[in-house]
Amino acid sequence: MFKYSVTSDAATQRLGAAVGQLVQPGDVLLLQGELGAGKTTFTKGLATALGIQQYVKSPTFTLIREYTSGRLPLYHMDVYRLENGGGDELGLEEYFNGAGVSVVEWPQFIEAEWPENYLQIKINKTATDNEQREFVFKPQGARYTALVAQLEQAL
Ligand SMILES: Nc1ncnc2c1ncn2[C@@H]1O[C@H](COP(=O)(O)OP(=O)(O)OP(=O)(O)O)[C@@H](O)[C@H]1O
Ligand SMILES: [Mg+2]
Repeated sequence: MFKYSVTSDAATQRLGAAVGQLVQPGDVLLLQGELGAGKTTFTKGLATALGIQQYVKSPTFTLIREYTSGRLPLYHMDVYRLENGGGDELGLEEYFNGAGVSVVEWPQFIEAEWPENYLQIKINKTATDNEQREFVFKPQGARYTALVAQLEQAL
């Protein structure tokens, strides 16, 4: 487990970019945190580091957006609307095993679909009235343990 605190929207994007430098095909990142925690903001930074020029916006209504103009494809998912199930119909396994990196917002709603290994990233709002956020990285499996070690080195 690795904890890292930031104090601005821009710093969250830089953190996402640092992760974006390290991701490999087939990586799965599960981003947890309340509404407005900064999950999409983090993903924007990650996309920038992949060289994706398009504007990354929340896929809340489409559930999945694919960006293919970067170093790796980015599969950005927001499954908030699956609060009452339906995640088994999305074909997530194909994304998770695909050539890109999958970033999932609200993964707790598709817990039955989680792959065996993943990087869980929890974002805690440490105060309601400022831009402070605590990121907690919890790797599951050797690949993600290595990724988090590289991230610690890079920061
Ligand atoms: N340190 C911070 N990191 C990220 N966002 C921050 C930070 N401080 C303030 N913000 C603001 O909080 C909001 C975060 O919005 P964002 O869409 O990234 O959240 P989210 O976790 O994706 O929410 P949702 O669950 O609705 O998808 C933005 O308005 C952003 O400017
Ligand atoms: Mg979001």
